[in-house]
Amino acid sequence: MLEKVELLMKSHIEAIGDSHVLGLYEKVPKGKRLRAKLILKIASQNQQAIELAAVVELIHAASLLHDDVIDDALTRRGEDSINALFGNKTSIMLGDILYAKGFFELSKLPSQVAQIISNAVVQLSTGELLDVELAHEFNTNAELYFDMIYKKTASLIEASATAAAYLAHKDVHKYAIYGKNLGLAFQIIDDILDITQNAQTLGKPALNDFKEGKTTLPYLYMYEKLTQIEQEKLLALFAKTLSEDEASWIQAKMQDTQAITQAIQHAKKLGEEALQMIADEGSTDLENIMKAMIEREF
Ligand code: IPE
Ligand code: MG
Ligand code: MG
Ligand code: MG
Repeated sequence: MLEKVELLMKSHIEAIGDSHVLGLYEKVPKGKRLRAKLILKIASQNQQAIELAAVVELIHAASLLHDDVIDDALTRRGEDSINALFGNKTSIMLGDILYAKGFFELSKLPSQVAQIISNAVVQLSTGELLDVELAHEFNTNAELYFDMIYKKTASLIEASATAAAYLAHKDVHKYAIYGKNLGLAFQIIDDILDITQNAQTLGKPALNDFKEGKTTLPYLYMYEKLTQIEQEKLLALFAKTLSEDEASWIQAKMQDTQAITQAIQHAKKLGEEALQMIADEGSTDLENIMKAMIEREF
C-alpha cells in the first residue's frame, strides 16, 4: 500500500511535465511516511485513502523544504537537504511546486477532506512563524511552546487522522484526538532526540535546536530546576555555536535535572491519552505506530 502512495506521488510530479522538477523531487529525502501510514491504517479499504496519503506526503515534503531553509539545515534525514545541494531559492520554489500540486490533487477529494487538510496547512505555517518568533529570545513559557508545536506539527497529523476517519466513516472526533496527541508526542520526541542523540544518528549536529534559538520542552523543564548561576550560564549560551565543553555541560545538566526523563514522560502520557481515545476501535496497528514513534532514535 505504501508503495502505491510512493508511485502516486511520483506520477503527480511527472504529470507536471518538467524534467528539472522531477530530478529535484527525486533528490528529496524520503522519510518515515508516518502520515501516509496513519491514513492507510485508519482508512485502509478506501481507494481515496491512497490519494489522500499521497497528497499529505507531498504537502509534508513541501513544508520540510521550507523548514530547512528557515532552520538553515544542511541535512535532512541524514542526507543532504535540497537547500544544501541547490540553494535556498531552489528549495523554496520546489516547496511551492509540491504545495500547489498537492492542493490541486487535494481539490479532487471530497470538499470536507480538502478543507480539513488545507486548514491544517494554515495552522502549520502559523506554527512555523511562531517558532521563528519564539527563537528571538530564550522562551520560558511552556504554553507557548505547546501552542507552537500543536500548530507546526500536530495539526497536519490530526488532520490526516481526521480526514482518513471521515473517508472510512469512522468516529472523526476520536481520531482527531488520537492524531493530535500523536503529533504532539512526535514533536516532543523530535526535540528530545536533538539533545540525546549524537550527530551520526541524527544526521545533523546535536543540540542544533538550541543553537537555532529553540527552547524546546527539555530546556523549559531544565531551566526551572537550575540555580540562578546555572540559569545565567545557560542564557549566555542561548543561540550560540557551542564548544564541546558547553555542549557536554548542557547534556549533563539535562540528565541531572531529569529534564529529559520528564519530557519523555510527558510524551508518553500524550501517547497513552491518544491510545485511550481509540481503545474500542481495536487497532493494534495504531498502537504500534504510537509505540514505534515514542521509542524511535531518529
Ligand atoms: C518542522 O519542525 C515542522 C514541520 C513539519 C514544518 P522542526 O524544524 O522541529 O523539524 P525538523 O527537526 O527540522 O525535522
Ligand atoms: Mg527544522
Ligand atoms: Mg523548524
Ligand atoms: Mg527538530
